[in-house]
Amino acid sequence: MVHLDFALVGPGRLGRRIARALVDGGSRCRAIRARRQPALQHSNMVPDCQIFDTWNAPEPWPEVQLVLVTVPDREIGRVARGLADQGLAPGTVVLHTSGLHTSKLLEPCREAGAHTGSWHPLQSFPAGDDPVDLQGVWCAAEGDPAAVDLAAGISRGLGMRPWDIPPGAKARYHAAAALASNLTHVLVVAAGRILGATGIPANPPASALEPLVTTSLRAALNAGGLEALTGPMARRDRETLERHLEVLPPELAEAYRQLARFVVSWNGSSIGGSIDPCDVDV
Ligand SMILES: NC(=O)c1ccc[n+]([C@@H]2O[C@H](COP(=O)([O-])OP(=O)(O)OC[C@H]3O[C@@H](n4cnc5c(N)ncnc54)[C@H](OP(=O)(O)O)[C@@H]3O)[C@@H](O)[C@H]2O)c1
Repeated sequence: MVHLDFALVGPGRLGRRIARALVDGGSRCRAIRARRQPALQHSNMVPDCQIFDTWNAPEPWPEVQLVLVTVPDREIGRVARGLADQGLAPGTVVLHTSGLHTSKLLEPCREAGAHTGSWHPLQSFPAGDDPVDLQGVWCAAEGDPAAVDLAAGISRGLGMRPWDIPPGAKARYHAAAALASNLTHVLVVAAGRILGATGIPANPPASALEPLVTTSLRAALNAGGLEALTGPMARRDRETLERHLEVLPPELAEAYRQLARFVVSWNGSSIGGSIDPCDVDV
């Protein structure tokens, strides 16, 4: 476990959980900086640290080995300039946690003498304070060698799996994460609403989908391809697909149609056998 003094900028969904995990592992959170008061309500999750709620706080910013910047992506540049203006001890590591952006966004900190990097846990941190499981979570890091080394040490210390991502791969990496997490989330919520309209007595209706969703997700997670896919797309059942498209709201029907086209064109034409794309022209 890496034991370090760190500061957190942005005690939001991800930041306060990671800070808490670092403190539980023996590190000291010396300061938390937020933008507005409400964000600080959750800061008691991270014990014994100084709270700064504005960038003009008269108290000096404590010297730390790591500044963890966990603000929304659009704020990272502004925060980097604020940190550089306020001054960073030479050799401080500054990491942001955007999945999309590289350490370039932290350039002002680098120019001010810090080692900069991006460090992204491939995990979802939803609203609320419930702990999020970090064990075995992959963490993509890139940036200055000292920053990447520290990021790897933190990852291992928290039971996560570090890897060095080429900076040019971040957009694709993040798109993959969004496909798997956000699109699945939206589809399950939409399916729950549609199921609710059938009068199913489950509460909430989406909970009735659990066996179906978890079994198919497990199959998908263990597969390299679409071999384990079930349902009308895999069966080339055009009649069923067309019936589904008739009863879905238009935007969802369009998404479904495009995904069916994607499935039939997967690897040329084969999904668990040979499928002729022309058979499923939906
Ligand atoms: N949540 C996830 O599942 C997840 C997963 C992986 C990576 N990430 C990445 O982690 C970062 C944070 O995401 P999040 O979902 O945790 O965001 P979030 O819940 O919106 O939290 C962001 C925090 O930053 C504060 N903040 C905003 N601007 C600030 C500024 N200029 N100075 C100081 N504090 C500021 C916000 O306070 P206010 O409320 O006052 O604005 C809030 O406390 C993003 O880069 C995101 O891409 C998130």
